[in-house]
Amino acid sequence: MDNYAQEINRRRTFAIISHPDAGKTTLTEKFLLYGGAINLAGSVKGKATARHAVADWMEIEKERGISVTSSVLQFEYGGFCINILDTPGHQDFSEDTYRTLMAADSAVMVIDASKGVEAQTRKLFKVCVMRKIPIFTFINKMDRDANDTFELLDEIEKELGIATCPVNWPIGSGKSFKGVYDRKRHCVITYSDTEKGTKEGETREIPVSDEAELERAIGSRAKETLEEEIELLDGASAEFDLDLVRSGDLTPVFFGSALTNFGVEFFLKHFLEMATTPLPRRADSGLIMPAENDFSAFVFKIQANMNKAHRDRIAFMRICSGKYEASMEVKHVQGNKVMRLSQPQQIMASERKILEEAYAGDIIGVFDPGIFSIGDTLCMPKEQFCYEGIPTFAPEHFARVRQVDTMKRKQFVKGITQIAQEGAIQIFQEFNTGMEEIIVGVVGVLQFDVLKYRLENEYNVEIRLDNLPYEHIRWIENKEIDMDSLTGTSDMKKIRDLKGNPLLLFINAWSVGMTLERNKGLVLSEFGRD
Ligand code: G4P
Repeated sequence: MDNYAQEINRRRTFAIISHPDAGKTTLTEKFLLYGGAINLAGSVKGKATARHAVADWMEIEKERGISVTSSVLQFEYGGFCINILDTPGHQDFSEDTYRTLMAADSAVMVIDASKGVEAQTRKLFKVCVMRKIPIFTFINKMDRDANDTFELLDEIEKELGIATCPVNWPIGSGKSFKGVYDRKRHCVITYSDTEKGTKEGETREIPVSDEAELERAIGSRAKETLEEEIELLDGASAEFDLDLVRSGDLTPVFFGSALTNFGVEFFLKHFLEMATTPLPRRADSGLIMPAENDFSAFVFKIQANMNKAHRDRIAFMRICSGKYEASMEVKHVQGNKVMRLSQPQQIMASERKILEEAYAGDIIGVFDPGIFSIGDTLCMPKEQFCYEGIPTFAPEHFARVRQVDTMKRKQFVKGITQIAQEGAIQIFQEFNTGMEEIIVGVVGVLQFDVLKYRLENEYNVEIRLDNLPYEHIRWIENKEIDMDSLTGTSDMKKIRDLKGNPLLLFINAWSVGMTLERNKGLVLSEFGRD
């Protein structure tokens, strides 16, 4: 092993997935607080910046040239170097949100205890499953009235298809929230509202064997319920198995309250024990090992600059092996060019820092004069390998797009093709006609506005978007299938992407199943791969 192995092995890189409002921002703030990255939670990632309406968002983009929500946070805790990847939600939910998951080694799923599994979590979860990365569950807002604990776990198992293993167990919720039971250490950690944002709290640990003390602390009714629930749980829940956690088949579940800072450090400690070091990544030459191979990275996201005066973009890359040092020469494999990365930086929510060095597991942002594409590989000049590509994720909103001024056809096609290459939108055509009809698909509706804005401002083309009713898209895995003889439902539409791959559009999910039934042997996928 090289001397940088130690640096790599102490890295943990994870993404937080959740539905908006479940408490992702609050939990992240508390993590940073424990890491000592900030003194007072809330000062790093204010609400004001996290929630921008379209107009605001554009302004911010223009000013900074980068979305404030596309941040990567790095902090130190207990000897670990932790990278948190934010997965933007709200209006700026886009394909980038999915792509971010391609750069993480594990995911933390935050669930609101009174809401259970919600739509956005479900979508992001699918990507984690595809990657088979470990998923850790934090059930938040226990200081508010929560759903029944067993029902919450049941919902996760049934809706997401992953086994659950509670690491701790809540005692009541809302006004009668008394704390959690630590299943491994057989003790109760009492709840105390630790004055929002401060680190110290007045929690106590009481072994369940100390019955009198436990009864004094949580009351006889809560104690009785806890005893019953533990018995039920020990009989019913899956055994903890680290291998199953690592393969993404079992999720350890934790309960707490991010706002009152209860259960957060408990979660962090256990998470760090269970989460993996940076994972090896598959390339066309085989597996690339983080601590054994020299520097390599892949681009997982490209952020276009909204400022007309600065056409440059920022390419985000995940370092997969070795160490990056400032001014080092690397090879951009797809461009077949040896180059120095221009001003590599770490993008924090509120600031950018020029990097001197970075290791496998870290994410860096690099100024891109327009040479990188999503999925591109960077490695040492003497090497020649390509990382597996990043799949295309299913858009959920579709529109027909036309340029208003027919004389501007050329600029229009150039602009929309370039924007599609950056990965901000996907474009399709009718299956049997040419480029004259373009269908654009996006993951989040904000991308429609971004497309309109950018075409007008960067390419001087005004467009009209006519919404289409489709919500489900499927790639056809067995491409040899005869598209003409394919019989679908009346709401089905046959389209193709720019590479000529056939796809199907549906208005409702039921039709997808029906089409599969009517065409034996047809294999459909929610992810597109080259
Ligand atoms: P998000 O990033 O997942 O969208 O969620 P965020 O952390 O912004 O939290 C959404 C709302 O839920 C916030 O309230 C936040 O204070 C609250 N919240 C987060 N964790 C907890 C918790 O453990 N318990 C309770 N009771 N509330 C929690 P808000 O009113 O929308 O914002 P704010 O005015 O409090 O800032």
